[in-house]
Amino acid sequence: MNNSKFLKALSLQTNSIPPVWFMRQAGRYLPEYQEIRKNYSNFLDMCKQPKTCAELALQPIDRFDLDASILFSDILTIPDALNLGLAFHEGEGPRFSNPISSPQDIKKLIRFDVNAVDYVFKAVEETKKQLPKDLPLIGFCGSPWTLAAYAIEGGGSKDFRKTKKFMKEHPDELQEFLEILSNACYEYLRQQVLSGVNALQIFDSWADLLSDKDLEDFSLRYTRLLTNQLKADPVTSNIPIILFEKAPKKKITDLIFEDISCISLHWQEDIESIALNLKNKYALQGNLDPHVLLGPDETIWNETQKICTIMNEYPGFVFNLGHGITPDIKPEKVKVMIDAIRK
Ligand code: CP3
Repeated sequence: MNNSKFLKALSLQTNSIPPVWFMRQAGRYLPEYQEIRKNYSNFLDMCKQPKTCAELALQPIDRFDLDASILFSDILTIPDALNLGLAFHEGEGPRFSNPISSPQDIKKLIRFDVNAVDYVFKAVEETKKQLPKDLPLIGFCGSPWTLAAYAIEGGGSKDFRKTKKFMKEHPDELQEFLEILSNACYEYLRQQVLSGVNALQIFDSWADLLSDKDLEDFSLRYTRLLTNQLKADPVTSNIPIILFEKAPKKKITDLIFEDISCISLHWQEDIESIALNLKNKYALQGNLDPHVLLGPDETIWNETQKICTIMNEYPGFVFNLGHGITPDIKPEKVKVMIDAIRK
C-alpha cells in the first residue's frame, strides 16, 4: 500500500496529480451495474452477495482506473440488523416496516450482533482479493445521527418531521439510541478493518437537518464517541478516518476534531477558504458539484481544473464529488472530469 496516492494524501502528503475516487462510484449511472442489478428485485438482497459486491466495487475501477475503491454495501445494513425491516422498493428508496416510533421501541431493541452483517465482511474479503495490490479499499458506515434519522422516519423524507418531533419530545431516549448506534458502528467498522479495509469514511448525510447546537448534541457527540473508540483500539487506531458532513449549519472549521484525518466537503462548501484554515492539519476531499456532470464537457473540464488549481499545493488533497453521483449522469462525463484531473 506504500504506493497509494490516496493513502499518501490522507497522511498529508502532496501528490503531483491528486488521487481521485467519488461517492457512489459503483451505481446506477453505470450500464454494467444495471446489467447485474436487474437480477435482483430488492437492492439489499444484492448487498448480501459478497461475490456480486466485489464485482460491483470493481466496475468503476476497471472503467476509470480510480485511486481508491469503496466497499459495495449500504449504510442501512446496521438498522436492518436491528430488525427494523428494511426494504428498497423500486423507485422510492429505503423503507423500514418497523421504524422506531416510540421510546419503548428503543427499550425493546435487540442487541446489535456483528455476525448478523457477516455478509459485509465477506464482501470486504472478496473485494480485497480481486483488487490490484496497491489499491486501497474504503470501508464505511453512516453516522449514528444519520442512521437514527432513517430508523425513526422509516425511510427518506423531505423534511424528516417525525424525527424532529421525536427529538423534541424524547431527547434522552434519542440519545440512548444514538449511543447504541455509535457502539454498533464501532464494532461494524472494526470488523471491516479486520477483514481488510484501508481507510474509513463516516457519512453524516442528514447533518443538514440540525441546528448548530443540535448538530453538536445529537450528531457530532456520537460520531466522536465512535471515533474515540476506533482510535483507542489497536486494531483500528492507525486507519485514517474521513468524515462527510452534508451541508451542516455549523462552519466546517468549527466542527472538526482530532480523530479525523480528512474532511470530505459537500459541494456547497468553499474549498478555498477552508483549505487556508486546515492546511497541514487535515486532508481535504472534494468537492465538485455533481450537477456539473450534467453540463457541457467544457464546463466539466473548467470546474474540475479550478478545484485542482486551488488545491495544487495543499498537502493532502483527494479529488471527489461534493455528494454522490446521480443515476442521470453519463459515464462519458465522468471520464471528462478524470481526464481534467490527470492532465
Ligand atoms: O460506490 C459506492 O459509493 C457504493 C456504496 C454505497 C451505496 N450507498 C450503494 C447504494 C455507499 C457508500 C452508500 C452510502 C449511503 N446509502 C448513504 C450515504 C451517502 C450519501 O449519499 O449521502 C446513504 C444516505 C444511503 C442510503 C440509501 N441507499 C439511499 C437513500 C438509497 C436510495 C437512493 C436513491 O437515489 O434511490 C440507497 C440505495 C443505494 N445504495 C444504491 C446504491 C448503488 C442504489 C440502489 C439501486 O440500485 O436501486
